[in-house]
Amino acid sequence: MTDKPANAMWGGRFAMSPAEIMQEINASIGFDKALAPQDIRGSKAHAEMLAEAGIITKSDAREIAKGLDKIKAEIDAGTFTFSRALEDVHMNVESRLKDIIGAAAGRLHTARSRNDQVATDFRLFVRDAIDGIDVALAAVQQALAEKAEAHAATVMPGFTHLQPAQPVTFGHHLLAYVEMIGRDRGRFADARKRLNESPLGSAALAGTSFPIDREKTAEALGFDRPMANSLDGVSDRDFAMETLAAATITAVHFSRLAEEIVIWMTPQFGFVKLSDRFTTGSSIMPQKRNPDAAELARAKVGRIASAFQGLVIVMKGLPLAYSKDMQEDKETTFDALSSLRLVMAAMAGMISDLEPNADAMRAAAGRGYSTATDLADWLVRELKMPFRDAHHVTGSIVKAAETKGIDLEQLSLEEMQKVEPRITKAVFSVLSVENSVKSRTSYGGTAPQNVAKMARQWLRRLEKARQKG
Ligand code: ARG
Repeated sequence: MTDKPANAMWGGRFAMSPAEIMQEINASIGFDKALAPQDIRGSKAHAEMLAEAGIITKSDAREIAKGLDKIKAEIDAGTFTFSRALEDVHMNVESRLKDIIGAAAGRLHTARSRNDQVATDFRLFVRDAIDGIDVALAAVQQALAEKAEAHAATVMPGFTHLQPAQPVTFGHHLLAYVEMIGRDRGRFADARKRLNESPLGSAALAGTSFPIDREKTAEALGFDRPMANSLDGVSDRDFAMETLAAATITAVHFSRLAEEIVIWMTPQFGFVKLSDRFTTGSSIMPQKRNPDAAELARAKVGRIASAFQGLVIVMKGLPLAYSKDMQEDKETTFDALSSLRLVMAAMAGMISDLEPNADAMRAAAGRGYSTATDLADWLVRELKMPFRDAHHVTGSIVKAAETKGIDLEQLSLEEMQKVEPRITKAVFSVLSVENSVKSRTSYGGTAPQNVAKMARQWLRRLEKARQKG
């Protein structure tokens, strides 16, 4: 970064350069250069509109567009020199435009302020990010649904309190995350709808006396319409807060799946294996295989949730309209969105990579009297017992098995009849984990036939969306 003389863009009334520390705290170019593509898109749309409205000449607009294209090429090639003395991306681009095309560059900022400019750029940036997130989330759903289809009948323990509760299938467990991610995508899509209005033309805060055409710039930038209030246009960042809230919830979901992968990977569980592609070794313990990617995916929610909270705190109590506080909206948002990108890609990769150990899962599913509810349900169905009584009887039978140190299935009919004489040997049909999951055919339940059907439905839905999109 080189330092051009300070105040080059707004220094008309200033006699002295800003203090070194003033420049340091004020400059945002270190991070807002990420907005350069959006800034250039916005400026091109603005210049074209200015020419069509007769506010600048067509030839000036052409020069401006050509110059902006050249700047874009320089930035893409990494040859653009960003200057801290020029504070931010907007003034860096405009100043370079002046170097390239001369005086006409000075007409670009007609009927515009950095306030509506940055609001526009940031909206475009967040919108682009949302579009990328949606594609990435669909890819995670695809990986999950494929695994789920392959393991629609693979039995594993279902937990509550991380204690064995009832047997479920691995496919069912994975599809739970497909549903969550479906809602995550819905939240981003909702945020995008509300975000997609153009602040451009709000100018500094009050609008402008020039005969601008806000519909036109809105349309050129892919917005649905211009924002209806100029004060609102320059001073709200709710679109970023909303997107970060959606990102936070998504990251929370991923942290839960990541945590499960970490647990499932332990030798104590031994439910899944990740290949060398998604594990690391230890520099001292040669036997180690660590699920670092899952751990990091679990941890990233920290910075994403902090970005959300940080922006909420920045915005809280800010009087209308623009305040420089709002410059603090970008850095953490950028970081959160790129962290989420990493998490999504790593999770999609890990899910495709992981292989369940069906035998270990099956064995664990049978432990902990996980079919006790099936026994109670049998008593209700066959002996017409009220569920509360059946629950009590089953509890006594579990206790008998526990005392003997055996599974429910291994308890003899006589032992069961000591608790409830009306029990017949037909009861054994409901005590196996396979029959337990097979019987859960209620809508949304874990029966393999349900799971296979749901997995296929999701895969079809995802395929259709891909073809459309
Ligand atoms: N870099 C500034 C920001 O990100 C641009 C807007 C500056 N506006 C102003 N009135 N100083 O918020």
